[in-house]
Amino acid sequence: MKTIAINQYGSAEAFTMINMPKPEPQADEVQVAIHAFSLNPMDIAGRMGALSSPFTDLWSFPLVLGWDFSGVITKVGSDITSFKTGDAVFGSAAPAHAANNGTYGEFITVNTKELAHLPSGLSFDQAAALPIAGLTAYYGMKHNLNLQPGQKILIQGGAGGVGLFAVQIAKAFDAYVATTASANHRNLLVDLGADEVIDYHETNPATVLHDYDAVFDTVGDIDTGLKVLKADGQLATIAAQPTDAQQYDQQKKAAFQFTQGSSEDLADLAKLTINGQVKLTIATLPFAVASVIKGHQAIESRHTTGKIVIHVTD
Ligand SMILES: NC(=O)c1ccc[n+]([C@@H]2O[C@H](COP(=O)([O-])OP(=O)(O)OC[C@H]3O[C@@H](n4cnc5c(N)ncnc54)[C@H](OP(=O)(O)O)[C@@H]3O)[C@@H](O)[C@H]2O)c1
Repeated sequence: MKTIAINQYGSAEAFTMINMPKPEPQADEVQVAIHAFSLNPMDIAGRMGALSSPFTDLWSFPLVLGWDFSGVITKVGSDITSFKTGDAVFGSAAPAHAANNGTYGEFITVNTKELAHLPSGLSFDQAAALPIAGLTAYYGMKHNLNLQPGQKILIQGGAGGVGLFAVQIAKAFDAYVATTASANHRNLLVDLGADEVIDYHETNPATVLHDYDAVFDTVGDIDTGLKVLKADGQLATIAAQPTDAQQYDQQKKAAFQFTQGSSEDLADLAKLTINGQVKLTIATLPFAVASVIKGHQAIESRHTTGKIVIHVTD
């Protein structure tokens, strides 16, 4: 099968098209012909050699990166009962995968923990954009922060892959949403329902927002988030490890979010997308080395909008 792989850690220019053996499913796995995959900041960390165990446990070179995908099941393991060959699916691969089993290729094998059927109304390209970023935001709003109607939340980094999901999911939960972004992202965020958009280059959110119930930090600025929270408010960060002092700031709770994705949450997220409560902002590129290089370089700039999806096949 064709893959876009690296032969050593380093810069994005190192990607190259390599033929690799097709991964074969274990008893509890399915094999999927990939129709689309999306890029995440963790792919960039993987490429640079900045990830460690468990992600790297099975890696060797040449190495195929990538976790998010959509596609069609081509084989099922003997223990699989809820999926069959020919099913259209989308999901996220387990953190650790073998060197030929990332999503930047034509086939992948995965267990079914974070796998969902592709519902009608969602294209393969759209579905590939959902898993890591969408589930992180959904898990944050629903399970971690337990966001309630009428609560006030600050989402730091509203225009990013996770941020755009978080803003819209928080609005779907009837919260009041303030978010931070560069000025060029203001109109998009207002159109998607944000109640307040703060240009963080001009204004520190802590000077204008007070007594918030919750903060969802996608950029690693915990100190600012804590200043915005009310006395017993809760902050979840996906981008930094809180220090002891930050974790125990008065009664405020600040913790790193370990996202626990599930097929059920993925299906809920797909429903929110199909019914229009979550609109996707996607840049779609063809399955080519140049696309993956361009996508990695864009994410490294830290100013992309929404998700970058690589379209593999129709
Ligand atoms: N723990 C987890 O489960 C988990 C899961 C997914 C991602 N993550 C991590 O979460 C972070 C965000 O992921 P992502 O996919 O959303 O990244 P991304 O799409 O690359 O984020 C890019 C966005 O970040 C915004 N940004 C950068 N610095 C900012 C700042 N100081 N204030 C406000 N916005 C800022 C930019 O907005 P402007 O262009 O408007 O400035 C841009 O839109 C990454 O560090 C990623 O590794 C963790």
